[in-house]
Amino acid sequence: MPKKLDLVVGARPNFMKAAPLVAELKKHPGIFEPRLIHSGQHYDKKLSQLFFEELKMPQPDIYLGVGSASHAVQTARIMTELEDIWMKEPPDLVIVFGDVNSTMAAAIVAAKLCIEIAHVEAGLRSFDNTMPEEINRVVTDRISDILFISEPSGMTNLEAEGVPENKLVFVGNIMIDSLINHLEAARKSDILDRLEIKSGEYIAMTMHRPANVDNADILSHLLEVFNRIGKQCPIIFPCHPRTKKNLETFALTDKIDPAALRLIEPLGYLDFLRLQSEAKLVLTDSGGIQEETTYLNIPCITMRENTERPVTVDVGSNIITGVDPAKILEAAEKSLSGETKSGQVPEKWDGKTAYRIVDYLSEYFG
Ligand code: UD1
Repeated sequence: MPKKLDLVVGARPNFMKAAPLVAELKKHPGIFEPRLIHSGQHYDKKLSQLFFEELKMPQPDIYLGVGSASHAVQTARIMTELEDIWMKEPPDLVIVFGDVNSTMAAAIVAAKLCIEIAHVEAGLRSFDNTMPEEINRVVTDRISDILFISEPSGMTNLEAEGVPENKLVFVGNIMIDSLINHLEAARKSDILDRLEIKSGEYIAMTMHRPANVDNADILSHLLEVFNRIGKQCPIIFPCHPRTKKNLETFALTDKIDPAALRLIEPLGYLDFLRLQSEAKLVLTDSGGIQEETTYLNIPCITMRENTERPVTVDVGSNIITGVDPAKILEAAEKSLSGETKSGQVPEKWDGKTAYRIVDYLSEYFG
């Protein structure tokens, strides 16, 4: 009997982590029977469906359609839906990815039904409990049975937390599998023509963290800095719905100098990959983009006080500035004047992570 594996995804950063694993598992039909469950945490076409199409992921077998809500309500909705499904039909293993609310919700339900859990991208820690993702990471890791680790810090953190060594598996970064698989297709994206910009002559930016966009004063000061940086090199800003909504709520849209800071709709995977791969500099508060720029060796400034992905700083091209606008400005000006940080590709970020995971699972199930 093939082993039944339920892979749970919910939000944009999950999709590029699940796609290579789904594809790899489907190569072994007699051994594994994967089923894809989408919570519906992200539901906008540009945050969800587009990624399924571009990553050539099969449509979800089950769609929960939970949508947006407060953390507690969103998490609870995912939990009640999943409990219903797994009470009737428990899989042999639940696989969760990253650190979004859907990840933790699925892990809690599986643990209470005594279903084994594998966490892909385990062990990352910002040590900052004000980030909802940190809570999701800590809880998920604590109750997982197999911890698939993407970078050395993951191993160190989990060892320090006392997780038994036989649960820890350093497989590398699965998001880089997706990047490698799609880089050629991304190079054919016409996004630069559509935006009428030239390779190497713009900054690509993303920003959606509550710490940066949920407070009017902070957001307003950041806009002032982006206007200044963007005068030296234009900033292209595919804007997350949370940020867009807050710009409108706080009446800050008029503060934007459109020649310096160009807001556009969220981009699909291939367009954004091309945009970041040919940027002079990337400004972000995302987790995954710190990793993608490290692989692409594009200078990256992370507008956060910490990172749960320290290998991108120790080995890669990433710099952490914090959220002080003056520090962001200083770092951006340095980078634009040619003082850029170059880096290397971390160990096992080689496009073979999904293969290593499936190889491990084959042995795990004997
Ligand atoms: C979530 C993840 C975050 C990840 C980000 C990537 C958690 C705790 N956070 O944050 O780690 O970096 O996704 O995008 O899981 N919205 C839409 N359309 C959608 C989804 C959301 O308009 O399809 C709007 C809604 O107003 C919603 C808000 O965005 O209230 C926030 O969405 P939510 O999924 O709660 O968190 P993100 O900020 O997207």
